[in-house]
Amino acid sequence: EQVWRKQMRDAHRLVADLYHEVLMKTEAGEVGLTYLRNRDLTEETIAQYRIGFAPDQRRFTVELLERRGFDLEVMVEAGLISKSKSGEYFDRFEGRVVFPIADRDGTIVGFSGRAIDDRQPKYVNTAETPLFNKSELLFGFSQARATMRKKKRVFLVEGNVDVLQVAQAGIQEVVASLGTAFSPQHARALSRIVEEVIICYDGDHAGQEATQKVIRLLESSPLDVQILPLPEKTDPDDYIRQHGGTHWQQFVETEQLSVLDFMNRMLRRGKNLNREGERIRFIESMLEEIGKTNDSIRRDLYVKKLSDEFEIPLETLRSRIPRPTSSES
Ligand code: CTP
Ligand code: MN
Ligand code: MN
Ligand code: MN
Ligand code: MN
Repeated sequence: EQVWRKQMRDAHRLVADLYHEVLMKTEAGEVGLTYLRNRDLTEETIAQYRIGFAPDQRRFTVELLERRGFDLEVMVEAGLISKSKSGEYFDRFEGRVVFPIADRDGTIVGFSGRAIDDRQPKYVNTAETPLFNKSELLFGFSQARATMRKKKRVFLVEGNVDVLQVAQAGIQEVVASLGTAFSPQHARALSRIVEEVIICYDGDHAGQEATQKVIRLLESSPLDVQILPLPEKTDPDDYIRQHGGTHWQQFVETEQLSVLDFMNRMLRRGKNLNREGERIRFIESMLEEIGKTNDSIRRDLYVKKLSDEFEIPLETLRSRIPRPTSSES
């Protein structure tokens, strides 16, 4: 194996350990710890996910790595530090709370850094590097692994802090894709471990759009998909902090929707079904969704539901279900 690859891994472990120590034990880290406490995160959670703080200094990490004999060019390629046009090395996550991101085996390969003041952007993440492939990594995967295996399910959330809060509320089987779209590789990795994915994206427009994308992506996978719709302008972190972990546990068990129930709700939104044209468009869209459902019992139940609601004979509806084409993207 290449020497530089091992260097990149070793450096990530060293930096993660040090950032964690800075957060937990030093004065420089106090602002970070206060920030996390104000977000209701416990030291146990902080330790479990090995959260840290990168001191607000331009060359803290650069100097650490240099002292330990790491090749700084390799460190730039690993995304641990940056290099200016004039050739000067400088820190990348300075002044931020850092969430280490590990691969499947728990080896740290990148970081996500959250601003604790109003500096922009809110999050700085490791860019694509030889170790860090966003479309394969999931935040919280290694911590969630054992429980995913046992419960055969996983909760998919948008953000790192959502993962922390959900886990802290006692649901350890939770992961987040790293601020990017959920990918086919993510789906494949999860389908090796779980049977069911429960999507709990943010209750805003972006979250709903992203939910539909995940649904589309998982159509061709063997995974069962459930959706947990969150109240408007709320993410799991907000919800848990407003209502508490016990309430959340209840909420996730009682409020899950099937894909068809979720799409039914989405497609009705903003339509006046008393109008014939809109009603027909709604029914056609629902039939299209029904056509994508692999489960024939669920399909029949839903056709029956539409038939009852709109007083259209079952056979008419059945004959209008589009057949899924096998060569879909
Ligand atoms: N994200 C990012 N860059 C941003 C905004 C978001 O990489 N400028 C990613 C982060 O991983 C973030 C996720 O997208 O956790 C979801 O975005 P958002 O809902 O806006 O952030 P929250 O997770 O709610 O962040 P917080 O609660 O810390 O404000
Ligand atoms: Mn969001
Ligand atoms: Mn399926
Ligand atoms: Mn959010
Ligand atoms: Mn949030």
